Amino acid sequence: MTKLAVLISGRGSNMQSLIDACADDAFPAEVGLVVSNVPGAAGIDRAREAGIPATVIDHTTFDGRQAFEAELDGVLRGAKPDLVCLAGFMRLLTDGFVQRWRDRVINIHPSLLPAFKGIHVHERVLESGARISGCTVHFVRPAMDEGPIIIQAAVPVEPDDDVDTLGDRVLSQEHRIFPLAVRLIAEGRVRVVGERVIIDGAEIPDGALMNPAGP
Ligand code: GAR
Repeated sequence: MTKLAVLISGRGSNMQSLIDACADDAFPAEVGLVVSNVPGAAGIDRAREAGIPATVIDHTTFDGRQAFEAELDGVLRGAKPDLVCLAGFMRLLTDGFVQRWRDRVINIHPSLLPAFKGIHVHERVLESGARISGCTVHFVRPAMDEGPIIIQAAVPVEPDDDVDTLGDRVLSQEHRIFPLAVRLIAEGRVRVVGERVIIDGAEIPDGALMNPAGP
């Protein structure tokens, strides 16, 4: 059984998708710990309601990034997770931390990386006129929203979309691909080779998502 630590900063809907997946006996992972860097984040209550220990490590109370990460590292070492899942965790992690946990930290991001890294993603996608957006799960590297890509899902951008409608469409796919990425890793099917991911027995979907739809 693969043990997960889930790091959050907010409402925790992606954390919830992992908790829900793990509730199935056939799912090869369990959530051992939730950590929030934001006191009062809604996700903390959601975790506790599910009976999962949730800890707050408030980054504002530490003297710099290193001190915050030393505490985070200590808490994680205590919980001994096999995999750390960044589920809307809005802090950059430094080189030292990422190297210590190399290929054991994954992140979900609401765009088709490497496009639209950073924040205000849906707003920027709409401004760009892109007709397809999506979400990505990747292994974490020190640079923001960078690292070997494990899985992506694409959705159409609709003509009358606003940030909320597009965000909801992407989020519903986030809730599918995050647990799927965890499953593939827990099944030992995911390897990082030369900063690209190889997935044993990956099923490749037929066809393409076109927007507007083609013949
Ligand atoms: C999600 O859309 C996630 O992809 C995004 O924050 C949201 C958190 O929602 N993460 C990033 O932008 C990381 N760069 P949640 O708290 O409901 O899971």
